Amino acid sequence: MLTINTTKLVTIERHISEEQSIYPSATGEFTAMLRDLTLALKIIARDVRRAGLNDILGMTTNTNVHGETVKRLDLISNDIIFRAMDHGGHLCVMASEENEELIAIPDPYTKGKYILVFDPLDGSSNIDVNVTIGTIFAIYQRLDPTLKTDGTMQDVLQPGYKQIAAGYTCYGSSTTLVYTSGHGVDVFTFDPSIGEFFLTFEKVKIPYKGKYYSVNEGNFHKMSRSIKAYIEYLKLPSSDGVRPYSSRYVGSAVADFHRTLRYGGIFMYPSSFDAPNGKLRLLYEANPFSFIMEQAGGMAIDEQGARILDKIPTSIHQRTSFFVGSPGDIEELVSFKELYS
Ligand code: AHG
Ligand code: MN
Ligand code: MN
Repeated sequence: MLTINTTKLVTIERHISEEQSIYPSATGEFTAMLRDLTLALKIIARDVRRAGLNDILGMTTNTNVHGETVKRLDLISNDIIFRAMDHGGHLCVMASEENEELIAIPDPYTKGKYILVFDPLDGSSNIDVNVTIGTIFAIYQRLDPTLKTDGTMQDVLQPGYKQIAAGYTCYGSSTTLVYTSGHGVDVFTFDPSIGEFFLTFEKVKIPYKGKYYSVNEGNFHKMSRSIKAYIEYLKLPSSDGVRPYSSRYVGSAVADFHRTLRYGGIFMYPSSFDAPNGKLRLLYEANPFSFIMEQAGGMAIDEQGARILDKIPTSIHQRTSFFVGSPGDIEELVSFKELYS
């Protein structure tokens, strides 16, 4: 039984078409594109649920017991999104974490005005151990929406503030889809018996401050002085009981981000001396998460304190240090950076 925290019974499709209807010029194209993407997400959710049964776990060797080549679940998810999105006539190009180059829309399909960038399966180290993983996506409009040609690298390398929609799924105890098109953040939960995502939380807002910090502390000694000092501070008991913060780290960014969004606190993937730009990808992870977080009243910055959404990408697989969460926690982090700079 779904717990629905809204008064209306609304599917994701209905929600998107209602949001679009506020624009007199809307043609229904955006809604149709999101319908294709939602279908892909449902198929991936189904395949994730069947992963152990279907012999498609992430870390299997390349051949199964039948001597057939086995694809990793992240590559299967990548194919599903491509096959759902290449022929709709809405996209002019795609970029995926799993493809070295841009993904062209094959001929003879129509080239549309939208661009899709995605991380087909986030949390690869958790695929085999039944821990939450997810899919992350962002949608942009091409620079000249009247063109009917292939999208270019310049079309894809737009700063995050140009996103027109972003979202992610968590394939966890239930499958949730978190979505924004710049009108707040809504959470949908998949009901497998009906095959629909239902709106379950409307216009979620992150608490001003949280009780959780989330970081791979195994990298502690590789971090900068100010980040180490901030983490030590979060662990230090305070007389008002606000600290120590509790530590939570799943190692799937979708899961760590989702908890941060709902409960507040801070998620960090800092730079380290051997990875000056951290690990996470600007296009497929940091930008969509930052758009969603800002829409929920939170903040997202890099280690230099720059707003993630203002960063101009120079390559599609660019990495960035990433700090995201409650505004009160991000402000506190910034004060540590200032103190130690
Ligand atoms: P992906 O599985 O898409 O490659 O992303 C993995 C990322 C992200 O999900 C997570 O936050 C991070 O890797 C964990 O990295 P560490 O193991 O270094 O903590
Ligand atoms: Mn990822
Ligand atoms: Mn991935």
